[in-house]
Amino acid sequence: MRKSVDILGISAFYHDSAACLIRDGDIVAAAQEERFTRKKHDCSFPERATNFCLEYGGVNINEIDCIAYYEKPFLKFDRILNTYFAFAPFGIRSFLKAMPLWIKKKMWIKDIIRKSLDFERDILFPEHHQSHASSAFFPSPFKEAAFLTVDGVGEWATGSVKIIV
Ligand SMILES: [Fe+2]
Repeated sequence: MRKSVDILGISAFYHDSAACLIRDGDIVAAAQEERFTRKKHDCSFPERATNFCLEYGGVNINEIDCIAYYEKPFLKFDRILNTYFAFAPFGIRSFLKAMPLWIKKKMWIKDIIRKSLDFERDILFPEHHQSHASSAFFPSPFKEAAFLTVDGVGEWATGSVKIIV
């Protein structure tokens, strides 16, 4: 019997941290961390949401084929630094406010995922807009689709056009 392909999706350290379990392309479970911590828009690592998804899906972390984090942190950090430097000294307060989270958490997300979940297999980092398109595609009834994503942020892109076939 063929084993299913189980992918755990994670977002963290921005806003509304969440986890999602996808099995063979179908969403099995999804939850935001705030539902468990009772902190509105909780941005902490979604350990409780992840545990819920795993339990609901009847799998343990060692049976997950790969974890996907919702964006490419280093590419986003590159954009953030370039933007701050281009407009300095304007934005210094925002820069000083943002950097601790980047230096302490976001730059180390791969290690945080490994240690928090005791996960040794692949961790993937799709682009921010690819994650948005996927969140629309996987719950849809379509086998192929064209997407237009428009967002205030991403790595560098704030919009994209994609075709999934
Ligand atoms: Fe977004």
